[in-house]
Amino acid sequence: MPQPWWRNAVFYQVYVRSFADSDGDGIGDLPGITSHLEHIRDLGADAIWLTPFYPSPQKDHGYDVSDYCDVNPEYGNLEDFDRLLARAHELRLKVLVDIVPNHTSDQHPWFQAAITAPDNPFRERYHFANPKTAEAPPNNWTSSFGGPAWSREPSGKQWYLHLFAPEQPDLNWWNPAVPKEFERILHFWLDRGADGFRIDVAAALFKRRDLADRPFLISPVTGMPHFDSDFAIIDQPPLHDVYRRWRQIANGYEPARVLVGEIFDPRHHAQYIVPDQLHMAFALIHQRWNAALWKRSIDGSRRALQGPGAGPTWTLANHDVVRPVTRLGGGSVGRARARAALLLVLGLPGQVFLYQGEELGLEEADMPDPARQDPIFFRTAGRMKGRDGCRVPLPWRRGEPNAGFSTAPPWLPMPAGWDRLAVDAQAAAANSTLAHFRRALAARKELSGRLPDRITWLPAPEGVLAYERGPLIVACNFLSRAARLRLGGRLELASAPLAAEKEGILHLPANSAAWLLRVARPQMPVAGAS
Ligand code: NOJ
Repeated sequence: MPQPWWRNAVFYQVYVRSFADSDGDGIGDLPGITSHLEHIRDLGADAIWLTPFYPSPQKDHGYDVSDYCDVNPEYGNLEDFDRLLARAHELRLKVLVDIVPNHTSDQHPWFQAAITAPDNPFRERYHFANPKTAEAPPNNWTSSFGGPAWSREPSGKQWYLHLFAPEQPDLNWWNPAVPKEFERILHFWLDRGADGFRIDVAAALFKRRDLADRPFLISPVTGMPHFDSDFAIIDQPPLHDVYRRWRQIANGYEPARVLVGEIFDPRHHAQYIVPDQLHMAFALIHQRWNAALWKRSIDGSRRALQGPGAGPTWTLANHDVVRPVTRLGGGSVGRARARAALLLVLGLPGQVFLYQGEELGLEEADMPDPARQDPIFFRTAGRMKGRDGCRVPLPWRRGEPNAGFSTAPPWLPMPAGWDRLAVDAQAAAANSTLAHFRRALAARKELSGRLPDRITWLPAPEGVLAYERGPLIVACNFLSRAARLRLGGRLELASAPLAAEKEGILHLPANSAAWLLRVARPQMPVAGAS
């Protein structure tokens, strides 16, 4: 059976506002993307995911949608979308659009109608409730962006639910008008030729009907309140029927379209990634640089999805998390580790999502507080800096104003020297991070038909991970000193220039990874550092 196109594909996430600006307003746009699609093709990706580009007051940079079937004028118009899609398809790139079904903008006509009168029928499409006491919200649920998940409506009579910013009221999916409208929206973009959807906050659409107080959980990773099965307000059974219906819709197109869910906890993936619901859900590896933790994370996601046709969708970065180079140590060490991590993850069976700028080794950008725009920064009164640092526009050309992103100062300031990492500068340097990404994606493509969907961990010294997948052996050294392993393969690709293989022994510099191609059966590794 030939595999569907998305199996083991590499996706590239385009953060629309920060990819490329075509009209000199300092904000990325659809024509800017269209004219830079070759970069993504040359990188070797198979598909792109476009973050929301719909009309929006931009209170959460597009994740607050006021019209799901149009384009925000600052990003272009529907014809620009059609041109982008046509060009992407010419370049053999599929295009996923981002659907935001959990909440609308407070400027969406439904919400605007809902707050006009206490008996307006549109109120049923959101969650309005009476306060517990005159000043206390209806329950103790908290917003992911800080503070209570409830705000008083302008008339002051009732409160409405928002798991994110107050400008993002949550939809009431128990009301049949809501699923019906989203089916229309799916058809709108699929009829235009979109190849599928990335589904925002995919597990949270239905809230517990009783709206009862819940135990209060804080994520050990972010220090923020988080969605969890224990939180028990989400993952409600009717959601699966919604996704069954969406899968039928996706299957009604030729070739079938795909659905990728943003579902935070891999332990929940198995209930969604089944043949009649979603195709994929992100497995975000967010661990610090430690071999045992990475192995646990990889195994956790693999164990979660073992059925036929299911496999993890690996990702190291997106527009919500600190950039990997910084997270993994910063500077040259962080960059070396991020290059190694790419090889570790690209060797695994399953899909891979890259986030724009990973291929340039961009770091999380620091910026003065007055330049910050993320609602998380404002909702937490600056206690949390928010996500702006990973959203700074891409540097395209060295020596040009604003690094070739725009003729105007970009919407988020670029750090000094950002243009040294520009695409054109890195394309010309054989050992650049960009060149490494291109080589790695090309090697993966080259091997793709020969790699089974199974890996086996190989014995390796502590602090080193090694696995085999058919003829491919992947080894990653998490240590801050070199390691030597006898793995029995020929060196194919390495993240560090000094990696070498001689007489069956692989020399792996600190914080580096390599791919070998099997030439003989493995022997026991020689443990240790050199
Ligand atoms: C997840 C998105 O990735 C994030 O950027 C957004 O703020 C929230 N969902 C709310 O839509």
